[in-house]
Amino acid sequence: MKPIILVTGANGQLGSVLTPALRARYGTDNVIASDLLPLPGYESRFEILDATDESRMTEVVRQYGVSQIYHLAAILSASGEKAPLRTWDINMTALLNVLEVSRKEGIEKVFYPSSIAVFGESAPLENTPNNAFLDPLTAYGISKAAGENWAKYYFAKFGIDVRSVRYPGVIGYQSDPGGGTTDYAVEIFHSAVRNEPYTCFLEPGETLPMIFMDDAIRATIELMEAPKENIKERSSYNLAGLSFSPAEVAAAIQKHYPDFNVSYSPDSRQAIAAKWPDSINDSPARDDWNWQPQFKMEELVETMLTKLQEKYAAKKLTPSQHSSAA
Ligand code: SER
Repeated sequence: MKPIILVTGANGQLGSVLTPALRARYGTDNVIASDLLPLPGYESRFEILDATDESRMTEVVRQYGVSQIYHLAAILSASGEKAPLRTWDINMTALLNVLEVSRKEGIEKVFYPSSIAVFGESAPLENTPNNAFLDPLTAYGISKAAGENWAKYYFAKFGIDVRSVRYPGVIGYQSDPGGGTTDYAVEIFHSAVRNEPYTCFLEPGETLPMIFMDDAIRATIELMEAPKENIKERSSYNLAGLSFSPAEVAAAIQKHYPDFNVSYSPDSRQAIAAKWPDSINDSPARDDWNWQPQFKMEELVETMLTKLQEKYAAKKLTPSQHSSAA
């Protein structure tokens, strides 16, 4: 039987790509998109839902007979530092609502995204293992690490099949990130295609783990479809795609846009990035549910540039018209 899925945060960077992917796989009518405001693109099966409102969540779950929840709504790392207690409050209230609604309404499976932000000073920067000590340094990271423990608790105590990955920075042409430390890795491609210079808010050598959107979506669906007995890690799985620094991605873009100019003006996000891993060891994901990333640097850069060129052309704006209009 096909699942009936509720997606929270369906308008976000990941949600706006994952929701159509879930609809393509399980049927449009079986995937209920939800967010604080409606956005074009969801002609049907969209509900306004603030994930911090448990009674509204219960109402939506009952209305559609929801059997799975993909809980994507959260405040990310850089935005989170502007209001740490609010970030903790919103991220935790929303997750605990999802878990409580799941317990009370008999939801079968929950997807909970965690992040490389759970790692702090104690974790090795290179090839960070899944079981490294977690001492996150941002409100977002603290909420994600606590959320992993709650996921594990609800599985152990109530048998809710909560599954989770620690996403690295997600890079896609389909949607814009909002409020993250890894956002530069999407912005830099837009600037290149618009023939504009880019000023990066991280240092040129600040290597971080990243993943191409298509790999991130495939990982999520593969994790959720894996046999239950294969899911041995009930806090969260490290997930690796590739790793690069701003200088490296700039050089890769300059192979296609030789005149592309990148300068550096590190801000408070640099301090966050400095404590996050450079690279991730994801062998438990590979062993338990056969995770294999596909996109390496060259293919990622080529795909991003080609798809963004098509996107800007479809908007009937040439890159130069766009930059003069911007
Ligand atoms: N991309 C996220 C952020 O930068 C990491 O989870 O906050």
